[in-house]
Amino acid sequence: MRTDNEAAPPPPPAADPAANAVELVGVSKNFGAVAAVHTVTLAIRQGEVLTLLGPSGCGKTTLLNIIAGFEEPTRGRIQIDGRDVTLTPPHLRDTGMVFQNYALFPHMNVFENVAFGLSMRRMPKARIAIEVSRALEMVKLEGLGGRRVRQLSGGQQQRVALARAIVIQPKVLLLDEPLSALDKNLRGQMQIELKELHDRTGLTTVFVTHDQGEALSLSDRIVVLNRGEIQQIAAPLELYRRPANGFVASFIGDINHLPPAECHRYGSDILFRLTPAIELAMPARADLALRDDQKAHIFVRPEHLRIADETGEGRNRVLCQVVTHVYQGTHTLTRVEAVGLGLLQLRIPGGEIIERTPPGSRIVVTINLDEATVLAEA
Ligand SMILES: Nc1ncnc2c1ncn2[C@@H]1O[C@H](COP(=O)(O)OP(=O)(O)OP(=O)(O)O)[C@@H](O)[C@H]1O
Ligand SMILES: [Mg+2]
Repeated sequence: MRTDNEAAPPPPPAADPAANAVELVGVSKNFGAVAAVHTVTLAIRQGEVLTLLGPSGCGKTTLLNIIAGFEEPTRGRIQIDGRDVTLTPPHLRDTGMVFQNYALFPHMNVFENVAFGLSMRRMPKARIAIEVSRALEMVKLEGLGGRRVRQLSGGQQQRVALARAIVIQPKVLLLDEPLSALDKNLRGQMQIELKELHDRTGLTTVFVTHDQGEALSLSDRIVVLNRGEIQQIAAPLELYRRPANGFVASFIGDINHLPPAECHRYGSDILFRLTPAIELAMPARADLALRDDQKAHIFVRPEHLRIADETGEGRNRVLCQVVTHVYQGTHTLTRVEAVGLGLLQLRIPGGEIIERTPPGSRIVVTINLDEATVLAEA
């Protein structure tokens, strides 16, 4: 609470609706009996990269198409830059879109593909030449204007699609899985380039992907969708550390979902009884309101499981047998069978664990619950 003689705090992040680039209010889309998008309300801030993330068929493309105007919502309305565009056709919405499969015109060269939107807007030819070469420079394709589309690599085609979307200087850039057709290395490189392009242009961007790693590395905020409904909207770190429900916890990053546990308060700890023989403890947390005897689901990241040293005491120790090691360069993903708990995954730095504990070895694993996600059963 602020008193009058204190210095004024910095202004809060804009509550001004004009600061939102896009607003969706109660948007639903049905295809016959399929509810592809279900009552989505979402404000996309000016200049942010917002990612729609979710499994195949969860409604990402449909939602993007609704923003672009290629699909009409069954219910709800859409605003772009403070203007209601629910009934506005796509070419009057000021959005630039890169489609899931690029959709370049194969009979045109690179220049013509990028110039297309400007020609449709009847821009003079000399201006078009300037704008197209500027857009090609932005995506690092300068000098390739005369190339045929089929003489380009996948990554280059992807850049042409990007140039075509940004050349019209849209209010919102809509990218539907633009990197999904690229191999892993090129994909990583294009992720960095997309980020740099965004830094240079400051364009409000809605990015669609089903790849959670890509979403975590590219986004200011992520919207997790499942079956057409928003599950959580949060910044990457918060989404990773504080998933709102079991779907988000399991979808974002690797995680161990332990068997349902019964909770009890014990001093400053909460105890979770997973089986008659296994009880795990964590310090009580303000964000966790659990009643005694309530059932809870615990989700714990592989990096929060450790192999205990033989002499050590310590709590939350579980007897396990090593099943497999998967070496991943900077770390090893180790799968163990925990007595009474089933399969668990550990992420262990380096690779020396592989020789030290071959499959079949008996080890003791400690489970650190300080960072765990605990969800009370409804
Ligand atoms: N034109 C259409 N007619 C009928 N059903 C459709 C149509 N377009 C999409 N759907 C259905 O709506 C749901 C959402 O589809 P959408 O294409 O938005 O999913 P997505 O999240 O983009 O999936 P993906 O990751 O596979 O691209 C799916 O069940 C899909 O089958
Ligand atoms: Mg899609």
